[in-house]
Amino acid sequence: MNSPVMQGLTLNTPSYVKHARLIAWVADMAALCKPARIVWCDGSDEEYDRLCQQLVDAGTLKRLNPELRPNSYLAWSDPSDVARVEDRTFICSQRQEDAGPTNNWKDPAEMRATLQPLFDGCMRGRTMYVVPFSMGPLGSPIAHIGIELSDSAYVAVNMKLMTRMGKGVFDVLGADGDFVPCVHTVGAPLAEGEGDQTAWPCNPETKYIVHYPETREIWSYGSGYGGNALLGKKCFALRIASTMGRQQGWLAEHMLILGVTSPEGKKYHVAAAFPSACGKTNFAMLIPPKGFEGWKVTTIGDDIAWIKPQANGRLHAINPEAGYFGVAPGTNTLTNPNCMASLDRDVIFTNVALTDNGDVWWEGMGDAPAHAIDWQGKDWTPQIAKETGAKAAHPNARFTVAATNNPALDSAWDDPAGVPIDAFIFGGRRSTTVPLVTEARDWTEGVYMAATMGSETTAAAFGAQGVVRRDPFAMLPFAGYNMSDYFQHWLNLGAQLKAKGAQLPAIFCVNWFRKDEAGKFVWPGFGENMRVLKWMIDRLEGRGQGVEHAFGISPTYQDIHWDGLNFSAEQYQTVTHIDKAAWAQELALHGELFQQLKHHLPRELEETKARIEQRLAA
Ligand code: GTP
Ligand code: SPV
Ligand code: MN
Repeated sequence: MNSPVMQGLTLNTPSYVKHARLIAWVADMAALCKPARIVWCDGSDEEYDRLCQQLVDAGTLKRLNPELRPNSYLAWSDPSDVARVEDRTFICSQRQEDAGPTNNWKDPAEMRATLQPLFDGCMRGRTMYVVPFSMGPLGSPIAHIGIELSDSAYVAVNMKLMTRMGKGVFDVLGADGDFVPCVHTVGAPLAEGEGDQTAWPCNPETKYIVHYPETREIWSYGSGYGGNALLGKKCFALRIASTMGRQQGWLAEHMLILGVTSPEGKKYHVAAAFPSACGKTNFAMLIPPKGFEGWKVTTIGDDIAWIKPQANGRLHAINPEAGYFGVAPGTNTLTNPNCMASLDRDVIFTNVALTDNGDVWWEGMGDAPAHAIDWQGKDWTPQIAKETGAKAAHPNARFTVAATNNPALDSAWDDPAGVPIDAFIFGGRRSTTVPLVTEARDWTEGVYMAATMGSETTAAAFGAQGVVRRDPFAMLPFAGYNMSDYFQHWLNLGAQLKAKGAQLPAIFCVNWFRKDEAGKFVWPGFGENMRVLKWMIDRLEGRGQGVEHAFGISPTYQDIHWDGLNFSAEQYQTVTHIDKAAWAQELALHGELFQQLKHHLPRELEETKARIEQRLAA
């Protein structure tokens, strides 16, 4: 179909698109946003190369040295557009109580009235890309489809790496399949005959990341960065999907998924929720350390899990994504060799530094170059860094890469049926108080641990850093509905599975980030986290020992496998001891959270808190 949308603008619908409702929606959005042209993405490699070349010509991407980093690019964003904007993110349900006290809420009619004039003509002078994508393997019973309309070619090429993007999606959709409509604009229309004045168009003043959960729509205005703009990720796969999961009896979680295989060939699957920039990518790609010969860890996903109960009562998980949008700073060949190997080629880097030989560098990658151009395009040397504190890479600098680049990719990563989950792990970034690892005595206690999790905030979101905030289930910025209802959903699901006679996954709480008096991490972390994972597997197999305390069960020094690591009983004490006074304060903070979430807060959680307080006092 080639019907005109308005004067001078044709829809250019490819002949393989047979979905009248979708075509009508694209036409409506084109009439609203008024782009100069419309391009339907087919997801081919030729298209990817063509769009990347276009972005190179526009100055948005730099092609890296093909000998050092084949088929790879670097983007530098506007300094005002470097992370998710939580205070500009809205859940616009009909009733405020359905968004709950942890979300920004606006009446949907009011929000539509606000957005209408902003979107009117927002794509003037630009191309509107129609980006079809599947979250999850195409046609999987756990997967869902989205269509993102975006005026950013950078978004289109990132979506190609991050999702199953392309024309195959239209075969699954057919003539009237369901899809989540996602509209994205950088919010920087061009005046007649004018080109871009900047390589990273965005709107430095106005940003809106808006979700209408009841009608399952996403509208994003003003940012081109990460979770603000790649709408399949946080907006769809977490905020909208969590509301779908609540209605349909499944879970959408901010979790990595890994497989761990013992030397005997026994395989377990674990899903772990850590807040943003708290180690999911690292844990998902873990290489077992010395002393763990014969063990293997494989990656199913590094950020998001969709988890559905099966007829037999087991929970099966898929990774809805097809790539990684990971934190660069701190990543190196010692802490995460699999990740570094994934980044050898075919990568889009954003906000890292450019070295003089056309490669990339970031803090924590290894030896600093004598000179580089920092993420803001300025000269950078170790001396300048020393004098001014200037960072070569932005602390939330990221890489985008297809999962198939990962040498540790699990053979079932693309399995439409997903993998069975044996354990859940929850972990925040805490310098004090929370011990290395604790197992919940039952599902409800595990839900309590997850619900009351705290974490020191990171550069992954715009705003203050390093302050402890409650981040229930690592979902504070991502739950698409009332947090108390979300807790209830977890409790209900557990009760349902139990009623079917199913073995529920065990639930653990971890903290890799306890510090000593000098402010240094005591636990070596990274690959050494395998020691904690092994204890969990011992527990699953009924062999692991531990001691029971007020919050659950933790291993003693003897219960951990220490071969290959020098870590003294005193050091172990530092990362595991329970300071009663600190915990009394911690429980007071749980109390504050529960006060905030009072409306619909499950009674079981208050009861669990009371039990912990009794134990602590005893
Ligand atoms: P998002 O993509 O934002 O959701 O984050 P993520 O949870 O995937 O975070 P990622 O794995 O990229 O880790 C971010 C930071 O945590 C990096 O700077 C790592 O160096 C650091 N980190 C990861 N694992 C560990 C660990 O075991 N110990 C310590 N001390 N730091 C870690
Ligand atoms: C996070 O912040 O948890 C991320 C990065 O995974 S972003 O996609 O930008 O939200
Ligand atoms: Mn994340």
